[in-house]
Amino acid sequence: MRLLNRTAGRLSRHRRGPLAGLVVLLLGLVISGSLYTAFSPAQADSQPSETDQVAQGKELFLASCSFCHGQNGEGVPTVREGYQLGPSLVGVGAAAVDFQVGTGRMPMVQPGQQAPRKPPVFSDEETAALAAYVASLGPGPAIPNESDYSIEGLSEEEREEAISRGGQIFLTNCTACHNFNGAGGAMPRGGYAPSLHGVEGKYIFEALLTGPQQMPNFSNGNLSPEEKRDVIAYLDSLEDNAEYAGFTLGGLGPVSEGLFAWLLGIGGLVGAAVWIASHTTRTKKSKVNP
Ligand code: HEC
Ligand code: HEC
Repeated sequence: MRLLNRTAGRLSRHRRGPLAGLVVLLLGLVISGSLYTAFSPAQADSQPSETDQVAQGKELFLASCSFCHGQNGEGVPTVREGYQLGPSLVGVGAAAVDFQVGTGRMPMVQPGQQAPRKPPVFSDEETAALAAYVASLGPGPAIPNESDYSIEGLSEEEREEAISRGGQIFLTNCTACHNFNGAGGAMPRGGYAPSLHGVEGKYIFEALLTGPQQMPNFSNGNLSPEEKRDVIAYLDSLEDNAEYAGFTLGGLGPVSEGLFAWLLGIGGLVGAAVWIASHTTRTKKSKVNP
């Protein structure tokens, strides 16, 4: 009885003491923690958290991109006229990185005119990490969802309509640089607009969103996601039907076609001029000399 009293006394003393509170708090934390891990969705530990991804992206960035784009993506100022290592990436968004790295343009091998398309250097996971890191520097366009650019779900009829709308959009906005059938063409100062044949829908969407290099950007405000998808459907239809333009003159490109138009067009005009001249002189003559 005396012993019991003493233990009870000790317990209540402990309960009231500052340590007891701490013990109860710790116990509560342990229990709720284990309950949480038991019931939280399994993907929580199989997927890297957002901050892990940004950290991984930063590491890759420091190793492969910072030489040209700066330690914090702030860009490297122009060293001399016409020679820039790399522009600031603050605010270019995840879409720009996914496009540039996904099409192999970045990392650029050496500073130059224009980074060419080449097989990508980074895996999908690494590209996503780089994109997450750059997106963390400032708000910019996100990587589009597959439902935005995929034309797989369209019915035959919807696809036909999308192709004709997309063709119109392409004609007014893109042919100036990319040519009528998307074959590409030269740009001022030694640049070029590449051929659009075989470019994946996702990269077409991202190119429109971010406007790489000398290409203007077509934000979703300018060209809605549906209109972008229409353009993708149109470009896709050129793939199915490479001779879409009908008469390609051997597919030698704008030069041969231009030459052809020149010969035929100017030839025709000269012919018409000669014909008109000969007829007017004859009528004048006939008036003067009855
Ligand atoms: C040798 C220098 C160099 C390296 C290395 C390099 N870049 Fe670039 N980057 C450039 C230049 C120059 C441009 C602009 C010219 C162009 O787009 O062709 C550019 C453009 C970009 C753009 C487009 C910006 C915009 O306004 O849309 C992104 C995004 C980008 N780089 C990301 C990267 C990433 C990510 C890496 C590393 C994996 C990288 N770059 C490595 C030089 C470099
Ligand atoms: C002022 C000229 C210009 C106009 C207008 C233009 N582009 Fe571009 N486009 C370019 C240039 C230049 C590049 C190459 C950028 C680079 O190399 O970094 C390009 C690149 C692209 C790419 C990337 C191709 C690849 O090889 O990965 C796509 C897709 C594209 N353009 C689609 C379009 C579409 C669709 C339109 C119309 C809505 C359009 N462009 C309008 C100049 C233009």
